[in-house]
Amino acid sequence: MTDSLFCRCLLAVSACVLAALSLPPLFQTAAQSGSKKILVAHRGASSYAPEHTLEAYRLALAQGADFVEQDLQITKDGVLVCLHDLTLERTTNVEEVFPNRARLDVSEDQAPGAPPAKHWYVPDFTLAEIKQLDAGSWFNEKFKGARVPTWQEAIDLVRGKAGLYPETKGPEVYGKRGFDMEKLTLEMLKKNKLAEPGADAKTPVIIQSFSAESLQKMRFELKTKLPLVFLIGFDPQKQWLTADGLKRVKEFANGIGPAKGLIEREPQLVTWAHAAGLTVTPYTFRSSNTGKYKDVREEMNQFLYTFGVDALFTDNPDQFPRR
Ligand code: G3P
Ligand code: CA
Repeated sequence: MTDSLFCRCLLAVSACVLAALSLPPLFQTAAQSGSKKILVAHRGASSYAPEHTLEAYRLALAQGADFVEQDLQITKDGVLVCLHDLTLERTTNVEEVFPNRARLDVSEDQAPGAPPAKHWYVPDFTLAEIKQLDAGSWFNEKFKGARVPTWQEAIDLVRGKAGLYPETKGPEVYGKRGFDMEKLTLEMLKKNKLAEPGADAKTPVIIQSFSAESLQKMRFELKTKLPLVFLIGFDPQKQWLTADGLKRVKEFANGIGPAKGLIEREPQLVTWAHAAGLTVTPYTFRSSNTGKYKDVREEMNQFLYTFGVDALFTDNPDQFPRR
């Protein structure tokens, strides 16, 4: 090898090492070992089984998920459960089991200007009541009897087989009801000896939220060292996606989780985020919504290997294109 070729190789290797070291610890191993991309099963393998049930989580593990996502809600008696919505009616038979326990109001999930409607809020029900609900039939009769899992049940199932990717959902809503979602989340991790990065090599933990305040509280007040990912949707949140905004995100988070359309519209975002030292994990890739792409595999392929994202959230873990 000539001296100049040797120098060029050395420079290239040094650049790779520096790039890997500038990433949060969780991704360093993946970056150093080549270009391993991270697969996060969104609400489990939720294209094939009812979202946020143990059945969906089990299938995600069987399909090779690196992480299994859990959206967190809090029951009336203070237990963290896995459910996407603040309300129970979309994914359970709560209307049938507890017909008189709804509130009439405009839920946060409703379209702007929608009239008040009946909503069965998770924090109006105890865990024992929620456990009576069928969380499977709405998806397919063959899942009849599936239950809303507690986060502890999800941890017990996933632990040792993949990472956990909890999201603090509606922390401000729960705050008004006297619950401290961030504290409960970190206490649960502590109880399971998962609160420190690297505590269980087979079960890494990443915490995500759409709330900058929630992440800032966990980072600065509760002093977690776990990787934090800031989820970013369209208006008004996309204002964070400037060079300056991303530098501010880096003060409290290790990565961003943008809506995939934001990257499609401005692929340079990935470079800007990486330059700010942030990983990029867009959401959500599903076979039922692939836009201009032939299928979800082709769409994920484009984001991972052309746009260069580090990881992604998908309802179809079995379609994740590994290289
Ligand atoms: O957490 C990533 C993605 O799940 C964000 O959207 O609404 O499915 O929680 P959502
Ligand atoms: Ca989520």
